[in-house]
Amino acid sequence: MTTQDSRHSVRNAAVVPDELNEVECTVNGARARFSVPPHRTLMDALRYQLDLTGTKTCCAEGECGACTVLVDGVGVNSCLMLAAEADGSTITTVEGLGLDTPSGLSDLQESFLEAGAVQCGFCIPGQVVAAEYLLRGNPSPTVEEIREGMSGNLCRCAGYQRIVAAVQMTARKRSHHD
Ligand code: FES
Ligand code: FES
Repeated sequence: MTTQDSRHSVRNAAVVPDELNEVECTVNGARARFSVPPHRTLMDALRYQLDLTGTKTCCAEGECGACTVLVDGVGVNSCLMLAAEADGSTITTVEGLGLDTPSGLSDLQESFLEAGAVQCGFCIPGQVVAAEYLLRGNPSPTVEEIREGMSGNLCRCAGYQRIVAAVQMTARKRSHHD
């Protein structure tokens, strides 16, 4: 191949569009179908293709937890998961937690408000989803278990004590409903 041919093939490669992957999944109880390039993260697909902007984007490298969602019931950093990998899965974002309540807020979200745990609010969707995941696996966590279970969710406003209090408050509410 001549030098000119090589340049030509490199230029062509640069303009070939990414192949799209079809994704079909359940998001907050509804079926969703969308196409994504192979490298699009689940976080970006949720925010920019499904308009579910409650899931926040911050570090985009698995350090802050702002993008936490439930995938098949497991809390994941959606910035670290490819959207294509979500094909066939069931996803719950913060928008989906209180769907069956009159206020649209879950008991956990209400507790965050009651405990004064929401300051600037940026980290809160991820905190709430992470706390929901924690409580589903451990309905009566100790303070240490809450701190440990939510250690991947950072709060720049340092509202950790009130976040822990909100999770404890929810655990108490749920135990009274059992
Ligand atoms: S944006 Fe995903 S962990 Fe920070
Ligand atoms: S409430 Fe501001 S970052 Fe957590």
